[in-house]
Amino acid sequence: MPKADSPLAQPVAEVGLAPVKVTQSADLIAALEAAKTRFVERNPKSKQLFEDACEILPGGNTRTLLYSAPFPICMKKGENYQVFDEDGHVYTDLVGELTAALYGHSHPLIQESIISTVKNVGLNLGATIAQEAVHARLICQRFGLDKVRFCNSGTEANLHALAAARHFTGKRKVVVFSGAYHGAVLGFWDGVQPNGVDKDDWVIGKYNDLASARALIENDDIAAVMVEGMQGAGGCISGTDEFLLQLQTSAKKVGAIFILDEVMTSRLGPAGLADIVGIKPDLKTFGKYLGGGMAFGAFGGSADLMAVYDPRSATSLAHSGTFNNNTLAMNSGYVGLNNIWTPDVAVEFNKMGDAFRVKLQELTKGTKMSVTGRGALNAIHFSEQGERELSCREDIVEDWGLKDLFFIEIMEDGFWITRRGSIAMILGTPQSELDRFCECVSRFLERHRALVKL
Ligand SMILES: Cc1ncc(COP(=O)(O)O)c(C=O)c1O
Repeated sequence: MPKADSPLAQPVAEVGLAPVKVTQSADLIAALEAAKTRFVERNPKSKQLFEDACEILPGGNTRTLLYSAPFPICMKKGENYQVFDEDGHVYTDLVGELTAALYGHSHPLIQESIISTVKNVGLNLGATIAQEAVHARLICQRFGLDKVRFCNSGTEANLHALAAARHFTGKRKVVVFSGAYHGAVLGFWDGVQPNGVDKDDWVIGKYNDLASARALIENDDIAAVMVEGMQGAGGCISGTDEFLLQLQTSAKKVGAIFILDEVMTSRLGPAGLADIVGIKPDLKTFGKYLGGGMAFGAFGGSADLMAVYDPRSATSLAHSGTFNNNTLAMNSGYVGLNNIWTPDVAVEFNKMGDAFRVKLQELTKGTKMSVTGRGALNAIHFSEQGERELSCREDIVEDWGLKDLFFIEIMEDGFWITRRGSIAMILGTPQSELDRFCECVSRFLERHRALVKL
């Protein structure tokens, strides 16, 4: 096995990882070594590109999640629901750009909108454009907001929502939950991350623990409660309806702002997860696919709260961002939500995802592999006990040896997933490919029966 400081070693601290099982059996080590050897042999061009990139990018990388040892696959292009790598392999894309690629890689309406915008509108006008209110109106209608504002990422959306809550309440502390990921500088899987902002202002609770959440929110000087309705990067762990309702009730009781991070979950239904659960957060945050494939973020909610950003008021907060109203995201984001991701499509697509997960859950029974999630957002886990019901990150110790083995071997079968096991389905993925994925999972479990059985 590579030493911890060798370039072949896999970092254990990766975005959104659950606690890690470190001991591995000799058989697993042998299977992993063999898989890694095949991986290196199959991907000479990716290897070369990685080595070249290491000369000018630290670790050849500019987005930690996309690094995997011994080197990451380098993609050349995407088309519809597939991606094609530099060594000539074709994959069914189950990464789905971590939910942002919902519309696929070449949806004709998105292509048309981008080309038309470039030709007829232009880029970077340095001025207000009519289309920003058009997209804003549609987002407000679909997600039940009075007012919305745009930014460039989900991270920014959450930072601006937090600033609004702090300005509005005059308080600083925010309750978040372990396992949460709210953006690049807002990760909480093992306490506040070393690159985290506002280090002293977080109160970290246990996800789905009603009593402790109530105590934390109601017993402190809390400006806001921020939560994902399903922890996405944390492994697709769903918040129970009771838990989310409790957060809303407790926040209301003490005048704290209840912020629902819908950056991933807004695509779980026509009006997002809040609508499915029946909660009415003060603020919601968005990103990903709502920019139609462009860098995008948005945050919105009640008119009185969002008024903190009204520049007509002398006491308003500034909300800057060169690309906040960029022409491409305003246009293709609108086309995506209005013409492609209609309410009916949202319902049907998530039903397809539910059926996929149920099938995977059936065929992984009795093994260390399990699948959690909601609708078309799911996550694969491997653990000693094969835990199937996860209510918080503390419920699982991931077996990263098995996870890596699966990651490499499912790529050999022509499926692109993240090393951490997230699956965010893309519109237009044929049912036959989902069925083939299930068959490949069955074959993996059969092939490694001795390693995966409980
Ligand atoms: C729930 C959640 N919030 C916020 C973010 C940050 O979004 P972005 O990567 O656009 O900054 C993510 C990204 O995956 C996310 O999953």
